[in-house]
Amino acid sequence: MIVSRATVADLDAILALEESGFDRSRWSRTAWLAEIEADDRCVLVDRDAEEKVVAVATFSAVADTADLLRVVVAPEHRGEGLARELVRAGIQWAQAFGATRLLLEVEETNDAARRLYDSTGFRPIARRDNYYGAGRHALVCALDLEPQSIPSPEEIEIETEVAGV
Ligand SMILES: CC(C)(COP(=O)(O)OP(=O)(O)OC[C@H]1O[C@@H](n2cnc3c(N)ncnc32)[C@H](O)[C@@H]1OP(=O)(O)O)[C@@H](O)C(=O)NCCC(=O)NCCS
Repeated sequence: MIVSRATVADLDAILALEESGFDRSRWSRTAWLAEIEADDRCVLVDRDAEEKVVAVATFSAVADTADLLRVVVAPEHRGEGLARELVRAGIQWAQAFGATRLLLEVEETNDAARRLYDSTGFRPIARRDNYYGAGRHALVCALDLEPQSIPSPEEIEIETEVAGV
Protein backbone atom coordinates (compact mmCIF):
# COMPACT_ATOMS: atom_id res chain seq x y z
CA MET A 1 0.00 0.00 0.00
CA ILE A 2 1.10 3.53 -0.77
CA VAL A 3 0.31 6.58 1.39
CA SER A 4 -0.02 9.83 -0.56
CA ARG A 5 -1.81 13.18 -0.48
CA ALA A 6 -5.38 13.03 -1.79
CA THR A 7 -6.41 15.02 -4.86
CA VAL A 8 -9.80 16.13 -6.15
CA ALA A 9 -9.74 13.06 -8.42
CA ASP A 10 -10.01 10.89 -5.29
CA LEU A 11 -13.31 12.44 -4.15
CA ASP A 12 -15.60 9.67 -5.44
CA ALA A 13 -13.52 6.98 -3.77
CA ILE A 14 -13.36 8.97 -0.53
CA LEU A 15 -17.15 9.40 -0.51
CA ALA A 16 -17.56 5.63 -1.00
CA LEU A 17 -15.34 5.10 2.05
CA GLU A 18 -17.38 7.65 3.98
CA GLU A 19 -20.56 5.68 3.20
CA SER A 20 -18.97 2.40 4.22
CA GLY A 21 -17.65 3.83 7.48
CA PHE A 22 -20.50 5.85 8.92
CA ASP A 23 -24.26 5.33 9.22
CA ARG A 24 -24.93 8.92 10.24
CA SER A 25 -23.20 12.29 10.40
CA ARG A 26 -21.56 11.57 7.07
CA TRP A 27 -19.37 14.24 5.52
CA SER A 28 -20.58 15.62 2.19
CA ARG A 29 -18.64 15.98 -1.07
CA THR A 30 -18.39 19.70 -0.32
CA ALA A 31 -16.90 19.01 3.08
CA TRP A 32 -14.28 16.61 1.69
CA LEU A 33 -13.45 18.96 -1.17
CA ALA A 34 -12.82 21.73 1.35
CA GLU A 35 -10.49 19.39 3.26
CA ILE A 36 -8.49 18.59 0.12
CA GLU A 37 -8.19 22.20 -0.98
CA ALA A 38 -7.39 23.88 2.34
CA ASP A 39 -3.79 24.87 3.02
CA ASP A 40 -4.02 23.97 6.70
CA ARG A 41 -5.35 20.46 6.04
CA CYS A 42 -3.65 17.22 5.07
CA VAL A 43 -5.80 14.53 3.48
CA LEU A 44 -3.93 11.24 3.13
CA VAL A 45 -5.04 8.17 1.23
CA ASP A 46 -3.84 4.60 1.01
CA ARG A 47 -3.94 2.99 -2.45
CA ASP A 48 -3.79 -0.67 -3.29
CA ALA A 49 -1.71 -2.18 -6.11
CA GLU A 50 -4.37 -1.11 -8.65
CA GLU A 51 -4.22 2.48 -7.34
CA LYS A 52 -7.66 2.12 -5.77
CA VAL A 53 -8.16 4.30 -2.69
CA VAL A 54 -8.86 1.98 0.24
CA ALA A 55 -8.36 4.28 3.23
CA VAL A 56 -8.41 7.99 4.01
CA ALA A 57 -7.55 10.26 6.92
CA THR A 58 -7.61 14.01 7.29
CA PHE A 59 -5.73 16.30 9.64
CA SER A 60 -5.76 20.04 10.38
CA ALA A 61 -3.18 22.24 12.06
CA VAL A 62 -3.35 25.71 13.57
CA ALA A 63 -0.29 27.09 15.35
CA ASP A 64 0.96 24.46 17.78
CA THR A 65 -2.13 22.21 17.72
CA ALA A 66 -3.08 19.67 15.08
CA ASP A 67 -6.29 17.64 14.91
CA LEU A 68 -7.02 14.22 13.49
CA LEU A 69 -10.47 14.86 12.03
CA ARG A 70 -11.41 11.62 10.30
CA VAL A 71 -10.03 8.21 9.42
CA VAL A 72 -11.85 5.51 7.45
CA VAL A 73 -10.66 2.19 6.06
CA ALA A 74 -12.60 0.07 3.54
CA PRO A 75 -14.28 -2.80 5.41
CA GLU A 76 -12.41 -5.46 3.42
CA HIS A 77 -9.05 -3.92 4.40
CA ARG A 78 -9.61 -3.38 8.11
CA GLY A 79 -7.21 -4.99 10.53
CA GLU A 80 -4.29 -4.69 8.11
CA GLY A 81 -2.64 -1.73 9.83
CA LEU A 82 -3.75 0.84 7.23
CA ALA A 83 -5.33 3.26 9.70
CA ARG A 84 -2.24 3.17 11.89
CA GLU A 85 -0.06 3.88 8.87
CA LEU A 86 -2.19 6.89 7.91
CA VAL A 87 -2.16 8.21 11.49
CA ARG A 88 1.62 7.90 11.63
CA ALA A 89 1.97 9.76 8.32
CA GLY A 90 -0.36 12.47 9.65
CA ILE A 91 1.77 12.75 12.76
CA GLN A 92 4.80 13.42 10.53
CA TRP A 93 2.87 16.11 8.67
CA ALA A 94 1.75 17.74 11.95
CA GLN A 95 5.32 17.73 13.26
CA ALA A 96 6.59 19.28 10.05
CA PHE A 97 3.88 21.94 10.42
CA GLY A 98 5.30 22.74 13.86
CA ALA A 99 2.49 21.31 15.96
CA THR A 100 3.44 20.10 19.42
CA ARG A 101 0.28 18.13 20.07
CA LEU A 102 -2.31 16.23 18.10
CA LEU A 103 -5.92 16.09 19.34
CA LEU A 104 -8.94 14.03 18.35
CA GLU A 105 -12.44 13.18 19.48
CA VAL A 106 -13.67 9.61 19.46
CA GLU A 107 -17.04 8.15 20.36
CA GLU A 108 -16.73 6.21 23.59
CA THR A 109 -18.34 3.13 22.05
CA ASN A 110 -16.07 3.01 18.96
CA ASP A 111 -13.82 0.18 20.15
CA ALA A 112 -11.87 -0.14 16.88
CA ALA A 113 -11.01 3.55 16.76
CA ARG A 114 -10.17 3.68 20.47
CA ARG A 115 -7.80 0.73 20.10
CA LEU A 116 -6.19 2.39 17.08
CA TYR A 117 -5.62 5.65 18.94
CA ASP A 118 -4.49 3.96 22.12
CA SER A 119 -1.93 1.85 20.27
CA THR A 120 -0.68 4.99 18.48
CA GLY A 121 -0.01 6.70 21.82
CA PHE A 122 -3.06 8.95 22.29
CA ARG A 123 -4.34 9.35 25.82
CA PRO A 124 -7.81 10.58 26.95
CA ILE A 125 -7.74 14.10 28.43
CA ALA A 126 -11.45 14.95 28.62
CA ARG A 127 -14.97 13.62 28.06
CA ARG A 128 -17.68 15.53 26.19
CA ASP A 129 -21.14 14.34 27.16
CA ASN A 130 -23.70 14.04 24.34
CA TYR A 131 -21.14 15.35 21.84
CA TYR A 132 -22.47 13.11 19.04
CA GLY A 133 -26.13 13.36 20.13
CA ALA A 134 -28.17 12.29 23.14
CA GLY A 135 -26.37 9.55 25.06
CA ARG A 136 -23.44 9.48 22.62
CA HIS A 137 -20.37 10.72 24.42
CA ALA A 138 -16.94 11.67 23.09
CA LEU A 139 -13.51 11.23 24.55
CA VAL A 140 -10.97 13.92 23.70
CA CYS A 141 -7.56 12.32 23.25
CA ALA A 142 -4.14 13.92 22.90
CA LEU A 143 -0.71 12.92 21.68
CA ASP A 144 2.34 15.05 22.48
CA LEU A 145 4.55 15.52 19.43
CA GLU A 146 8.30 15.90 19.34
CA PRO A 147 9.25 19.18 17.69
CA GLN A 148 10.93 18.67 14.30
CA SER A 149 13.03 21.17 12.41
CA ILE A 150 12.83 19.44 9.02
CA PRO A 151 11.14 18.98 6.63
CA SER A 152 8.92 22.05 6.26
CA PRO A 153 5.22 21.47 5.46
CA GLU A 154 5.87 22.42 1.83
CA GLU A 155 8.74 19.98 1.57
CA ILE A 156 7.03 16.97 3.04
CA GLU A 157 6.29 14.44 0.33
CA ILE A 158 4.31 11.54 1.72
CA GLU A 159 4.75 8.48 -0.45
CA THR A 160 5.38 5.51 1.78
CA GLU A 161 5.44 1.83 0.93
CA VAL A 162 3.74 -0.09 3.77
CA ALA A 163 5.84 -3.15 4.26
CA GLY A 164 4.06 -6.45 4.20
CA VAL A 165 0.66 -5.11 3.08
C1 LIG B 1 -11.36 2.55 13.14
C2 LIG B 1 -10.75 2.11 11.82
C3 LIG B 1 -10.30 3.33 11.05
C4 LIG B 1 -9.53 1.19 12.13
O1 LIG B 1 -8.90 0.91 10.88
P1 LIG B 1 -7.96 -0.40 10.68
O2 LIG B 1 -7.14 -0.16 9.45
O3 LIG B 1 -8.76 -1.62 10.75
O4 LIG B 1 -7.01 -0.32 11.97
P2 LIG B 1 -5.55 -0.96 12.05
O5 LIG B 1 -5.53 -2.23 11.28
O6 LIG B 1 -4.55 0.09 11.71
O7 LIG B 1 -5.48 -1.34 13.59
C5 LIG B 1 -5.05 -0.44 14.58
C6 LIG B 1 -5.34 -1.03 15.95
O8 LIG B 1 -6.76 -1.08 16.16
C7 LIG B 1 -7.15 -2.44 16.46
N1 LIG B 1 -8.45 -2.69 15.87
C8 LIG B 1 -8.79 -2.55 14.55
N2 LIG B 1 -10.08 -2.90 14.39
C9 LIG B 1 -10.53 -3.28 15.61
C10 LIG B 1 -11.79 -3.74 16.10
N3 LIG B 1 -12.86 -3.91 15.29
N4 LIG B 1 -11.91 -4.01 17.43
C11 LIG B 1 -10.86 -3.83 18.26
N5 LIG B 1 -9.64 -3.39 17.86
C12 LIG B 1 -9.48 -3.13 16.56
C13 LIG B 1 -6.06 -3.30 15.84
O9 LIG B 1 -5.99 -4.56 16.45
C14 LIG B 1 -4.84 -2.47 16.11
O10 LIG B 1 -4.48 -2.62 17.48
P3 LIG B 1 -3.01 -3.13 17.89
O11 LIG B 1 -2.10 -1.99 17.53
O12 LIG B 1 -3.10 -3.36 19.33
O13 LIG B 1 -2.75 -4.35 17.05
C15 LIG B 1 -11.77 1.26 10.97
O14 LIG B 1 -12.35 0.28 11.79
C16 LIG B 1 -12.89 2.11 10.35
O15 LIG B 1 -12.75 2.61 9.23
N6 LIG B 1 -14.03 2.26 11.08
C17 LIG B 1 -15.18 3.04 10.57
C18 LIG B 1 -14.88 4.55 10.60
C19 LIG B 1 -14.50 5.03 11.98
O16 LIG B 1 -15.10 4.69 12.98
N7 LIG B 1 -13.43 5.89 12.05
C20 LIG B 1 -12.93 6.44 13.30
C21 LIG B 1 -13.63 7.67 13.71
S1 LIG B 1 -13.37 9.03 12.57
